[in-house]
Parts: sequence; structure tokens; C-alpha cells
Amino acid sequence: MQKFALLIAFMFVFYPLVHGQDTKSDAEQSKRSTVLNFEVIKTQVLMPYCGSCHIEMDESEYSMETYESLLEGGESEEPGIIPGDLENSPVWTRIDEGDMPPDNLPAPPEDKLELLKRWIEAGAPK
Ligand code: HEC
Repeated sequence: MQKFALLIAFMFVFYPLVHGQDTKSDAEQSKRSTVLNFEVIKTQVLMPYCGSCHIEMDESEYSMETYESLLEGGESEEPGIIPGDLENSPVWTRIDEGDMPPDNLPAPPEDKLELLKRWIEAGAPK
């Protein structure tokens, strides 16, 4: 009888665990299959965290307004993004090094960074 009670207890403990994991992997899967393109990156990552200076252009020469201008870069005359090459893409390394956004403005959170990273690694599809 004790064993039976233990079994019931186990079922209650494990069901949510297993079930919880299922929903997590579902969420993970739908996250992975999100279509990544310039429009998604622009609206979800660039506009909210870089847009005040790099889209409206009141602060920097570097415009992220269009796909072409984002890849082209700014004053440095180096490309802003090298598709497929995360470590040599200033848009990524400047955030990673804590250099952008400046003035203690909020940086993109982990999930937005993950989107940006995957997009650049995937060859920055338009
Ligand atoms: C408060 C304004 C501001 C915000 C917000 C901002 N930047 Fe900048 N950014 C600048 C200025 C000004 C420059 C030009 C001076 C310099 O290179 O440091 C610059 C330069 C850059 C450059 C170098 C461009 C080049 O070729 O010279 C990159 C890359 C960059 N920013 C990326 C970003 C990213 C990515 C974000 C968002 C996460 C961001 N910045 C947010 C002001 C801003």
C-alpha cells in the first residue's frame, strides 16, 4: 500500500515535470523556426535599441534604415555586418563589447541578441 502511495506521489511530481519539458521544447522549436529576415531584425532588435540614433539619424552617420545601409556601415567605412561572420560584424561586436548602445542606454535583452546572432550567422538573409 505504501508503495502504491509512493507511485501516485511520483506521478504527480513527474507529470508536470515531463509535461513542462514538452511545452518548453515546443516553444524552443517554434522560436527556432521563426523566419529571420531584415524586417524582423529591424523591427525587433534595431528599431527599439539602436533606432533613435541609427534610423532617425540625428546622432550618427550610420543608418540602419535599409538592408543595404545596415550592411554598408558608417563613418568607419567598414561594413556594419559581414553576413555569416559574427565575430567580424561591428553591429554584433560593438554590442558584445558593451560599446553600443552608448550612454548606458538599454541594450537588447538575451532573446533579441539571440535573434541577431542567428540572423548574422545564417548569412543575414534579406
Ligand atoms: C544614443 C545614440 C546611439 C544609439 C542608441 C546606438 N548608437 Fe551606434 N553609434 C552612435 C554614434 C554617435 C556612432 C558614431 C561614432 C562611433 O563610431 O562611435 C555610432 C556608431 C556605431 C557603429 C559603427 C559604425 C561605423 O561604421 O562607423 C556601429 C556598428 C553601431 N554604432 C552599432 C550600434 C548598434 C548595434 C546599436 C543598438 C544596439 C547602436 N549602435 C545604438 C550612436 C548610437
